[in-house]
Amino acid sequence: MTAAPSKRPAEWLREHFKSNPKASGVLKDAQVDMLVTFVAKRSEKAVDAWQNAPPSAVEGALIYQANECATCHKLNGVGDELGPSLNGVGERHERAWIEQHFADPAKFSPESMMPATKFKPEDLKFITDYITSIPK
Ligand code: HEC
Repeated sequence: MTAAPSKRPAEWLREHFKSNPKASGVLKDAQVDMLVTFVAKRSEKAVDAWQNAPPSAVEGALIYQANECATCHKLNGVGDELGPSLNGVGERHERAWIEQHFADPAKFSPESMMPATKFKPEDLKFITDYITSIPK
């Protein structure tokens, strides 16, 4: 399935991120611009997912980018396929599984090539909020 890029105007997205109560005052303009570019390249569905996502998912998206998860994972049609697509991952795994998997992927999936990442507790919550908010 190929994702059609979102036709939502960049301005709508920019306002959407800025009106996010958690993000306002936290996100710098440059970060908002980056998120707009990031989301606008994705599908309508990706844009819609933001409506229901917890506010912390915005921060999770920044962590996702900073850690270059897309070099191995597809999310809403964007990214590589060394690992499984992350769409709907929250339906496949318990939250605890997803959180613990980050610290030691090979413990859960023998021979996993995913690098272990020790996130700060806050960041672990954000990245998990983000990926579990993206539907199948
Ligand atoms: C070097 C490639 C690589 C990178 C970088 C990487 N992963 Fe993975 N990931 C994998 C592979 C391969 C698997 C499948 C084996 C496993 O479960 O560990 C996987 C599995 C997963 C799973 C379980 C998916 C499922 O459906 O079972 C999640 C969630 C996940 N990765 C999230 C992330 C996130 C978020 C990042 C960025 C912080 C990331 N990964 C970075 C390769 C990668």
